[in-house]
Amino acid sequence: MALFRAENIKVKGIIEINKLEIPAQQIVCIVGKSGSGKSTFLRLLNHLDSPDEGTIFYQGENMQKMNPIELRRSITMVPQTPVIFSGSVEDNLKIGQKLSGIDVVNELKLKETLEKVFLHKSLDAPAEDLSGGEKQRLALARAMLLQADVFLLDEPSSALDSDTAAKVIDMFIEFIKTQNKSLIMITHDLELARRVADVTIEMDQYSKTSLNS
Ligand SMILES: Nc1ncnc2c1ncn2[C@@H]1O[C@H](COP(=O)(O)OP(=O)(O)OP(=O)(O)O)[C@@H](O)[C@H]1O
Ligand SMILES: [Mg+2]
Repeated sequence: MALFRAENIKVKGIIEINKLEIPAQQIVCIVGKSGSGKSTFLRLLNHLDSPDEGTIFYQGENMQKMNPIELRRSITMVPQTPVIFSGSVEDNLKIGQKLSGIDVVNELKLKETLEKVFLHKSLDAPAEDLSGGEKQRLALARAMLLQADVFLLDEPSSALDSDTAAKVIDMFIEFIKTQNKSLIMITHDLELARRVADVTIEMDQYSKTSLNS
């Protein structure tokens, strides 16, 4: 069964998708022009937005009819502009777990997770002082601490230099594969998509925005 199935989807004048299936436990990259509707589509998969027409099925079930809290627990998204809360790096790592109602991991595990995203900051550093790319990695680390099955990443490496981007993305893919999870990732980096994707979705074919029509 497909992880997601989109049927007869219309969102404003932005995207139209007759039928699209996304398989489970794969590395899926979404590519396409700026403004083509990639972020809009990803938000549908997290039920942050609903389509004007059509249905999204998650593991065969109509998402509209699913419990939003359970859905959020199963599917986690890191948006294009990461949400960073005031407070420390530690506060920011823990808040995801608190909001998801799962146990907060210990300090050692928090530090290990920072190491995984190559963020060499102390847990008590103020998160708001981090650079854009550091905030992006903090948001990725926070997502990894959630017990989600599906990770939706919106341009997770856009603020990183190519070296750091490759290291962070490779680490994240390793995490997805070893834990048998699913990854759907938007990227502008076609070379990255070619290198890592099991499946590539070209958004331009579904796009109704003026730039692409
Ligand atoms: N809530 C909204 N209401 C109306 N139009 C919107 C809304 N959200 C996004 N759009 C428009 O939909 C189009 C697609 O936006 P979206 O953010 O999905 O593009 P994108 O492919 O992610 O672009 P980028 O690569 O620049 O991030 C844009 O033209 C945008 O202005
Ligand atoms: Mg976008």
